[in-house]
Amino acid sequence: MPAVTKVCCIGAGYVGGPTCAVIALKCPHIKVTIVDLNQSRIDAWNSADYKLPIYEPGLEDVVRRARGRNLFFSTDIDRSIQEADLIFVSVNTPTKKSGVGAGFAADLNYVESATRRIAKVATSSKIVVEKSTVPCRTAQSMRIILEANSSPNCRFDILSNPEFLAEGTAINDLFKPDRVLIGSLQTPEGIAASNALVEIYANWVPKERILSVGLWSSELSKLAANAMLAQRISSVNALSAICEATGANIDEVAHAVGYDSRIGPNFLRASVGFGGSCFQKDILNLVYLSESLHLPEVAEYWKQVVTMNEYQKRRFSKTVVDTLFNTITGKRIAVLGFAFKADTGDTRESPAITLVRDFLLEKAHVSIYDPQVEHTQIWSDLSEALPLVPLPNLQKQVHIASSALDCCKNAEAVVIATEWREFREIDWEAVYRGMNKPAFVFDGRLLVDAQKLRSIGFKVTVIGRGEQL
Ligand code: NAI
Repeated sequence: MPAVTKVCCIGAGYVGGPTCAVIALKCPHIKVTIVDLNQSRIDAWNSADYKLPIYEPGLEDVVRRARGRNLFFSTDIDRSIQEADLIFVSVNTPTKKSGVGAGFAADLNYVESATRRIAKVATSSKIVVEKSTVPCRTAQSMRIILEANSSPNCRFDILSNPEFLAEGTAINDLFKPDRVLIGSLQTPEGIAASNALVEIYANWVPKERILSVGLWSSELSKLAANAMLAQRISSVNALSAICEATGANIDEVAHAVGYDSRIGPNFLRASVGFGGSCFQKDILNLVYLSESLHLPEVAEYWKQVVTMNEYQKRRFSKTVVDTLFNTITGKRIAVLGFAFKADTGDTRESPAITLVRDFLLEKAHVSIYDPQVEHTQIWSDLSEALPLVPLPNLQKQVHIASSALDCCKNAEAVVIATEWREFREIDWEAVYRGMNKPAFVFDGRLLVDAQKLRSIGFKVTVIGRGEQL
């Protein structure tokens, strides 16, 4: 199979954008075109002042170095498909909202329409790479669609190459991935296609970190990795509830547990709950898959990871209400952070949305500050979380602040919902002076120095620490 010289990526989102920008940077001999249906997203990728549509540390530098050289962003999807030897399908696969499997199964509508587009417009053979996270055997469906709709003499080889980057550290993860996983049919053609993709990654990834496996193993490995990561968070969060009830300290417990080399220290941080576009969606997908395979015990096991996450968010908002003398009606609650984690502007499934919704349902006034999330995004997330509350009413109850200090002014309580570093470094004495007394801090991210804040005068509650209960 000849070496790949032209790559197209369908989907210019959190995965397609950074992943293919890094491929372009590391492979100057390959022309990479990232396409999307969304004109404003493409315009932002092409913007003269590099106001990119997503915030990710290091991304702007990558785009500055490669854009216009061998990296292009376009809405001309058909032309880019026709030109390419290899096409990444990196479109969204959200949880289905209606129909069979609603609330659990992945909505594969976007994958299917991108696949149909490839079949319709391709005039030469292509390697089609599933980059989106999909249920097992989606590659098979893609193959059937491609073969049934393609022009003569077009051959399609399908690969699975799930993406393991984490938002907030995407560029570093892409520069130095723990592994690159490539799944293919174990036929001579499938293995040749897999080798062509290996050659692309081998431009910067050591070959021993590029794993070649069967198609279905590759698809399942992505769901499995996310399920096991989320399971660690839910496990540590379940323990945080026991810590609060007993007086133990979750940091100390996690530290001690993580010293076991079989467990390891990473991803054992208690929090107000996991968020992001992937963990919940991918576990629900695994639950659905298990049910479809008539494995109800397996489905129930994984479902519990999501149930625990919901419990942790509710438990935290209830702690706020209980601590503020069982009512927050008419009180001002300052929520620091709205993104689902630090170093991203992404709010999908952010625990902050659930917290703010709970506070609003308790008739509190809420002020919100996040250094990266657009105000329009906050309004849209809150409107979706509270569909029965008209936007003008929401706007009377919610204030979006332009700084952490402004956010906390005249508040009774500060709730830390995202672990942005700047929240550790704000002038907490000034925050204290501006607040109503007693002034409460609820740290949902184990972020602040609780002792220091107590010495200023705050009443501090930290998730997973029993001493305040
Ligand atoms: P996203 O929603 O940010 O981006 C998807 C893009 O695809 C959108 O801009 C949309 O307009 C475009 N699109 C949809 N259908 C299209 C079509 N037919 N033609 C052209 N463009 C089309 O989604 P994101 O976060 O990039 O995720 C993509 C996939 O990667 C999902 O399957 C997700 O589960 C997976 N993933 C996401 C990670 C993350 O951290 N966000 C990490 C690893 C995997």
